[in-house]
Amino acid sequence: MSDPWQECMDHGVEITKEAGKMIRAALQKDIAVMQKSSPVDLVTETDQKVEQLIISSIRDKFPTHSFIGEESVAAGAPSILTDNPTWIIDPIDGTTNFVHRFPFVSVSIGFTVKKEIEFGIVYSCIEDKMYTARKGKGAFCNGAPIKVSGQQDISQSMVLTGMGFKKDPEQFKTILANVKTILTIPVHGIRSSGSAAVNMCLVACGSADAYYHMGIHCWDMAGGAVIVTEAGGVIMDISGGAFDLMSRRLIVASSRAIAERIAKEITEFPVGRDDTDG
Ligand code: IPD
Repeated sequence: MSDPWQECMDHGVEITKEAGKMIRAALQKDIAVMQKSSPVDLVTETDQKVEQLIISSIRDKFPTHSFIGEESVAAGAPSILTDNPTWIIDPIDGTTNFVHRFPFVSVSIGFTVKKEIEFGIVYSCIEDKMYTARKGKGAFCNGAPIKVSGQQDISQSMVLTGMGFKKDPEQFKTILANVKTILTIPVHGIRSSGSAAVNMCLVACGSADAYYHMGIHCWDMAGGAVIVTEAGGVIMDISGGAFDLMSRRLIVASSRAIAERIAKEITEFPVGRDDTDG
């Protein structure tokens, strides 16, 4: 039987390449920066233009499909996952990197049907690395198969996380304490690319062994989630339970042993859900 979603994936890859070109061109010009929820939550005209480009192109071809896009949600659109085919879009994952021309900037698209992720596309557009995965068909970078490191021993691992200022002092303290806890296991090191989607792809291709984060969004995770699992990695909730795309929390790792160890070591804090409080 032919794959009903392959045409969508092919179109998604093409429009993601266009989006990448737009982002690279914007990097050659002055970048006007605006603030969203806080002085460290940034947005640019390029985030908005790229999201419009992607959504209008997909809507022309697949008019019945639904969308959850970072900038549309910021402008008041709902962030509710339904059974309808849904494109979950982060037009620039790594906006702060983009603003600083720090070279990890990605376009991330995850496509769900009946709330299951069918495929993921993450284009790290300055590196020109196109990561793709179709459920059940493996993960690829620029067309070549990728797989996780397979590392089982956390003391031999490179761990990624998200680093950023938090207004809530308790949350901020917990994030820093968690970094200290993981570092003192000890692991080989903690890094962050500044793009959640790139972090997930770094685990998928074996350049890092784990990534954990609380407080990100479904558009940061949807593309990378299936890329990691199709590359042989594991994905779970920060508590060690089942991953929930709308929960704003995740651990991905090269092995269950490492993911479960991270879940055991870190302290949680409440982050809300994408489908209740945006
Ligand atoms: C951000 C990046 C970053 C993560 C932030 C996200 P954005 O996404 O993924 O790595 O630490 O929490 O908000 O805002 O650049 O799309």
